[in-house]
Amino acid sequence: NDPALIDSFGRVATDLRVSVTDRCNLRCTYCMPAEGLDWMPNEKILTDDELVRLVDIAVRLLGVTDVRLTGGEPLLRPHLEDLVARMAALRPRPRLAMTTNGIGFAKRAQAFAEAGLDRVNISLDTINRETFARLARRDRLRHVLDALAAARDAGLEPVKINAVLMRGINDHEAVDLLRFALDGGYHLRFIEQMPLDAQHGWSRAGMITADEIVELLSTEFTLTPSPTERGGAPAERWLVNGGPAEVGIIPSVTRPFCAACERTRLTADGAVRSCLFSTTETDLRGLLREGADDERIADAWREAMWGKLAGHEINEAGFAQPIRPMSAIGG
Ligand code: GTP
Ligand code: 5AD
Ligand code: SF4
Repeated sequence: NDPALIDSFGRVATDLRVSVTDRCNLRCTYCMPAEGLDWMPNEKILTDDELVRLVDIAVRLLGVTDVRLTGGEPLLRPHLEDLVARMAALRPRPRLAMTTNGIGFAKRAQAFAEAGLDRVNISLDTINRETFARLARRDRLRHVLDALAAARDAGLEPVKINAVLMRGINDHEAVDLLRFALDGGYHLRFIEQMPLDAQHGWSRAGMITADEIVELLSTEFTLTPSPTERGGAPAERWLVNGGPAEVGIIPSVTRPFCAACERTRLTADGAVRSCLFSTTETDLRGLLREGADDERIADAWREAMWGKLAGHEINEAGFAQPIRPMSAIGG
């Protein structure tokens, strides 16, 4: 039994993204409709014991070294600090990160750091209060700004900001966002919007491309490619005004990084997905609940990853979105 999650193209998945809930307290227009979605029923969602067991299998038997908690909005899962602490107690201990919208994080940042969280990425698409309220359909900009400062003060660094730009909505803010990040000591990454929204409203014309982002930023800053090794990281890194400050751009659509992908995913209801865009999934919840032993679960996980696609087909004719929206897969 190979201790690695290897696929038929020779890629090895060492980075596990665990979605802990599909719910969210924002309603970003590029993600879900105003009324929200049909959330998963509680009995389908993995319990803390089940989640810890799967992550233990991943680090002990499958070579996973990095675990990222995502959602929906992960902070909506009750007692998430306890889950982090239990994951931090696993051996070998995985590096632990979280991707969050930041709502309610400020007062919990210290507790998360103490529980063993190493890093946090916080989503922030605008620093304008009205634009935030329109884009996220909730007036919560202040909460996110407080979360960023609290994450930094708790030492959860580098604190990364994820920003999705949309044409005519917040694309005029690229420069302001970078200035804000540089002033605050945060690492900003711009993300090309992918067709993963629940309403299927994505259009190529509405997407601000990586090249456009470089152009927008170049009106105020000098960008030069960063010499830092990229490895399996999704972001292309640029030095700002000669460095050391950097900005990242995640060009998922126009320059896919699929060939270097090191990811495996677990949904909140216990399915392994080998790719954001997989059309098939492998259910581990059923195995868990019928009493399968660790080896059997590890085997099912290995098999799921072996079948990973070469890459997404967003740029191919006939591309179809996965049935699950991003919020139910985990970002
Ligand atoms: P670090 O670089 O380790 O901090 O994390 P990350 O960038 O992988 O994590 P994060 O959750 O912050 O993801 C940032 C963005 O990358 C997401 O919003 C997605 O748009 C994109 N992304 C994450 N995973 C994938 C993936 O498997 N495929 C593609 N195409 N994009 C992804
Ligand atoms: N394309 C790209 N990024 C997206 N996010 C949410 N939906 C999309 C999409 N369709 C981002 C969020 C958050 C991260 C988890 O994913 O803004 O930063
Ligand atoms: Fe919530 Fe994230 Fe979707 Fe915004 S992008 S609605 S923060 S899950």
